[in-house]
Formats: sequence, C-alpha cells, structure tokens
Amino acid sequence: MRERQLRFGATLLGVGGPGQQNTWLHPEIPGDASVNIGWYIERARQVEAARFDFLFVVDSQFITPDSPPHYLNRLEPLTLLSALAVATSNVGLVGTITTSFTSPFAVARQLASLDLISGGRAGWNVVTSIDPGTARNYDLEEHYDYTTRYGRALEHVSVVRGLWDSYEDDAFPRDKQAGIFFDRSRQHPLNHRGTHFSVVGPLNLERSAQGQPVIFQAGNSEEGRTLAASVGEGIFTLARSFEDARAFYRDLKERAAAKGRDPDRILIMPGLSVTLADSDEEARTIAAEVEGAKDFSKLLAEFGRPYGWHDFTQYDLDAPFPDVAAFGERSGRTITAEIQRVASEQSLTLRETVLHVNRTLRSPFVGSARTVAAEIERWFVGRAADGFILHVTVPSEFARFSDEVLPILRERGLFRSEYESDTLRGNLGLPIPANVHTLARAEAGTAQLSSSRSGS
Ligand SMILES: Cc1cc2nc3c(=O)[nH]c(=O)nc-3n(C[C@H](O)[C@H](O)[C@H](O)COP(=O)(O)O)c2cc1C
Repeated sequence: MRERQLRFGATLLGVGGPGQQNTWLHPEIPGDASVNIGWYIERARQVEAARFDFLFVVDSQFITPDSPPHYLNRLEPLTLLSALAVATSNVGLVGTITTSFTSPFAVARQLASLDLISGGRAGWNVVTSIDPGTARNYDLEEHYDYTTRYGRALEHVSVVRGLWDSYEDDAFPRDKQAGIFFDRSRQHPLNHRGTHFSVVGPLNLERSAQGQPVIFQAGNSEEGRTLAASVGEGIFTLARSFEDARAFYRDLKERAAAKGRDPDRILIMPGLSVTLADSDEEARTIAAEVEGAKDFSKLLAEFGRPYGWHDFTQYDLDAPFPDVAAFGERSGRTITAEIQRVASEQSLTLRETVLHVNRTLRSPFVGSARTVAAEIERWFVGRAADGFILHVTVPSEFARFSDEVLPILRERGLFRSEYESDTLRGNLGLPIPANVHTLARAEAGTAQLSSSRSGS
C-alpha cells in the first residue's frame, strides 16, 4: 500500500469569493475572470502542472448586489468542468451541485457525462444550499428545514449512486461481427420509491474508468456530519485552527467507522488560504494590509449571508447583538448558532461581533515557504487534515505556492511529483466501487456453488 500522502484541491474563485471583495482589482486578474473560459483553462493547466488532485468549483444560485464579485457573474459548474475536461488530462474535476433544488436523475446523468468526458475524473460536492433565497428561484416559497434538507440529500445521493450502477461493466460487448451491441441482462432499472423521490431508471449511461464519480461533502451541522459520515469520500471543512480541525477530523472518522466504513477511505480536507513571503514577518505584514484594506460595510453585508442575506444595516452597530436567530434557521443554522453563543457570552455589540467573525476566518497559514510547509505537515501528521483545498485567484501567488512550498513537501515524501493515475479515484487512493448488480450476481454464484458442493 502507498504511504499516506497529502491531497490538494484548488478552488477557482475568479474575481474573488467571500472575504475577497478587492481581489478583482489585482493587476493580474482580468475583470471578466469568472466568466472567461480562457482564464479557467490557464488556471486548470497551472494546477495540473503542480500535480494537484483536483479542481473544485463552488456554487450557489441566489445573489444580492452585496454578493462577492465571483458570485455575481460566474459559469455553471458542470458546463465549466466539461470544458476543462478536454483541456486537461489528469487533474480531477469536482463540481458543487445542490440536492435541495435538483432531481437525482438529472444530476446522475450530468455527472456521469462529465465522468465519461474526462475519462473518470469527476467528483460531486454535495451541498444542501446555504442560501435560502434559492428556493424562490425553484418554485418554492421557502427553503427546507434542516431535517428535510438533509433527508433529501441522503436519499438523493443514494438514488444517484443507484442510477450510476444501471449498467454492469460488461453491458456493451459492441461486437459488430456477432451483431451484439449490448447485453440486456446487464441493464438494471432502479425502481426507487422513497420519502422524497420516485425514480424508475435505468440511467442511459454506462460507468466510467473510475466506476462512479467521487462524492465530496461540506456541512458542519449534526445533520451535515451524519451525511458526510454516511456517503462522503472527501469532506470539505473550514480551517480555523489546528485544534478545531483535529477535533472535526476525529469526529468525522469516528462517525464513519461507526457506520462500518473504513476511516482511511474518507479524506478530510480543510480550506487553505495562504499568504507567502520571504520571511514570516513580511508575510504577517502583507496579511495585515489585506485585512486593513477590507471595507467594514462589505464585511457587514457578507455577515448577513448565513442569515439568508439578512440586512444588518438596519441595526445600531454599537448596540448589543440583535435577536436574529430566526433568520439563520433555514440558512446557516450551525454558524449562526455559534455566532449567537459568542455574542451572548462576551456581551458583544453588532460591530464587535462582525469583527470577531472576520478575525476567526483569518488563515493560520501565513509565513515563509518553510513555515507554511511546516504548518501543513503539522496538520497532516497530527491528523487534523488528509489534505487541503487551496483558494486560487492570483496566478503568481499560486505559482509561488507551487514553486516554493510543494518542493519542501515533496522533499519530505509527503506529496507526489507525478500523477499515479489518470482517474480521480486512482490519484486519491480511493477504491473503485463495485457495481451492486455485478456484486449480487457474484455472491449468488458463490452461494449456488457452495450449496451444490455441500449437496454433492
Ligand atoms: C469548504 C466548504 C465549501 C462549501 N461550498 C458550498 C457551496 O459551494 N455551495 C453551498 O450552497 N454551500 C457550500 N458550503 C456550505 C455547506 O454545504 C452547508 O450548506 C452550510 O455549511 C450550512 O449547513 P451546515 O449547517 O450543515 O453547515 C460549503 C461549506 C464548506 C465548509
């Protein structure tokens, strides 16, 4: 078995995601980066040259004028990833799709198509949509409550995975001489009737070289963690500190083990924002300058997001933190409950609370290449992370990470120099899931064999 290796994903954030309201002003970033396919292809090739495991595209489908620049005007993830699939050869392609406002059949079909187009490099970041306003773009008055939202998610993923097994791997002999295109005994309907979905199947697509796309998940609530432990193969999380990340890591691995899963086959990957410079002091100065340039009114607007983009300008900034818990109930319930707890315990005003939340989002990965590499190694060896998703905007900053930090990690035997495989599962060291019908047939065959042996 291969030594445990670091995994890296790259989140492509075009003109700037949450907390990056000024990124689009950088001279290296074209103003249309988030909708410019040429720009994405260049970034994808840069990430592939660095031997990252995958590209990651986040998504949401509800905006306000206060949304981060990248969110205001960006490409739909699977359309984008399909274009990147033909411009790359090894890097994985992970897209975010919500289970709250999609049908499993359509999602199964789109992802299976991406998986075939890319030769087995597709991944799905399963989310339930943090923005409740999305519901009103999909014929609903309001977002689902958490129980329904995550109940749908679990059933959705299981239907999608069932559909992906519609054909066994030997279903298409394509034997022109014998005139056999496909073997009808190897095609299987799903006949699913559940709480949220009814899907007959079969899906009209065969499996790819990696069997099925890799399932990623990001969600911190009790319900989100249960979903992650049940179906996640890669788990995204926020990295506030080594201690927090280690507690999350242990919790998720224990939950997965309790469900009978192999914890080593579940990769925990916190987000990674890096500030690199020649010295630690210089890096700290740069990070402080970036923080200082942030406009409080923009911080206040973004603070409203987990409250369903609630407008906080209506409150007195210097009065005690307002009673807004209800707005978080169907949006970011976990994070808003945590904010409420801190604000009450420390008797914070609204202004202090916004600044506190902004401080907790500051990255611990600031310093020289040696310092950052050592910190990454500490998290990896200390079982706070199996890998990281790096936020990518400015090309020269990514190049610096690739040219200065990765060689140190390679020297320490922690990260690859060449791809091991041309599928995402192959590179992540994840197994190809057996087709359930092939497995059942094999088990039935074994049972028949042993009963005929014991009868003879
Ligand atoms: C690294 C990371 C990436 C995420 N990406 C998305 C995303 O692209 N779209 C989305 O709607 N939510 C995204 N989320 C939010 C979660 O999926 C989840 O909906 C949110 O955290 C609220 O649910 P929770 O209370 O279970 O955490 C992301 C979360 C994390 C930690």
